[in-house]
Amino acid sequence: MAAGDSLPAKTAQQMAIDGDQPSSKYIFKNTKFGPLETTPPFAPVPIIDIGRFFSSSEQDNQQTELAKLRSALTNWGCFQAVNHGLSDSYLDNLRQVIKQFFDIPLDEKRKYFRETGSVEGYGNDMIYSENQVQDWCDRLFLRLLPEDQRKLRFWPQKPSNFRETINDYTMKIKSISVVIFEAMAKSLNLEENCFSKHFTEEQDVLQGRFILYPPCPTPDQVLGLKAHSDRSGITLLLQDPGVEGLQVLNDGKWYMVPVIRDAIFVNLGDQMQIMSNGIFKSPVHRVVTNKGKGRMSVAMFTEPDPSKEIGPVDVLVDNKRPRVYKTVKNYAVFNHECFQKGIIALDAVKI
Ligand code: OGA
Ligand code: NI
Repeated sequence: MAAGDSLPAKTAQQMAIDGDQPSSKYIFKNTKFGPLETTPPFAPVPIIDIGRFFSSSEQDNQQTELAKLRSALTNWGCFQAVNHGLSDSYLDNLRQVIKQFFDIPLDEKRKYFRETGSVEGYGNDMIYSENQVQDWCDRLFLRLLPEDQRKLRFWPQKPSNFRETINDYTMKIKSISVVIFEAMAKSLNLEENCFSKHFTEEQDVLQGRFILYPPCPTPDQVLGLKAHSDRSGITLLLQDPGVEGLQVLNDGKWYMVPVIRDAIFVNLGDQMQIMSNGIFKSPVHRVVTNKGKGRMSVAMFTEPDPSKEIGPVDVLVDNKRPRVYKTVKNYAVFNHECFQKGIIALDAVKI
């Protein structure tokens, strides 16, 4: 399968340090998602106080927030979550620890390089074809849950608190995501656990992608991360305070996602679009680079138990809203197979 896959001789970070110009492999090619614009308008993505979803005591306040959530997910497929319970200093420490990993010399980081044909570990995007445009970023991709499937050989031992910090963040994100799944269900007047039950059992999956976007000398020609939708249930993204870069596509137009200090940007993935029978959106998004500034982000992806079938939840299918998607198992593998055939997975599960 990944016949042409390879690890970079030089990471994007190293090229930036050495002052290299991005080679032709990195140059953006126009796609159906439109041209590369570095300064589109800001996305008016709603800010949602998810603190109100934690306690059942404030029913009235919850209703307002649930209505905002529903509108955000129907129109944009994403929102900014504030009041999530993680303090500024907690998140600063997390970002610091990850930055410290990226700051260790390349030769030492090579120990954690992913293997060709596989995404887990440190390195670049997997290379599927010769004319694939490369992303101007380096990432460390780790399977965080279920715990017994962790591959510790890819987990940095430097800085020395890396593993414990990531483990702690994993558990916190896990509980926040359950609250969000329940709120999404309530916003559609469904049983509270109708989404979360697919994500809270023992075999559910949480993955983490820690991404460094080094400064780029030609941001108008090179993307940090190419346009995609996530395959997840939901993705919880921590941005770098003060450095924009994430863009989201809405109605054919690109928008820049504002950076709100210590907000967690939540976007839905394809599996939530399927489960909500297309009511909620899994938005296409991408990352642009900056000339003077690097950026780091922490993306946590929830996924249901791969052995379970997922499909539109029954109560969202009726005469007025016929079933839009078939059921699918192990969407990660399905998505990967579609990608290699050049098909969009979400289109392939459409009825
Ligand atoms: C991703 C992603 C956005 C970012 O990893 O899927 O969209 O800002 N990341 O790094
Ligand atoms: Ni993404």
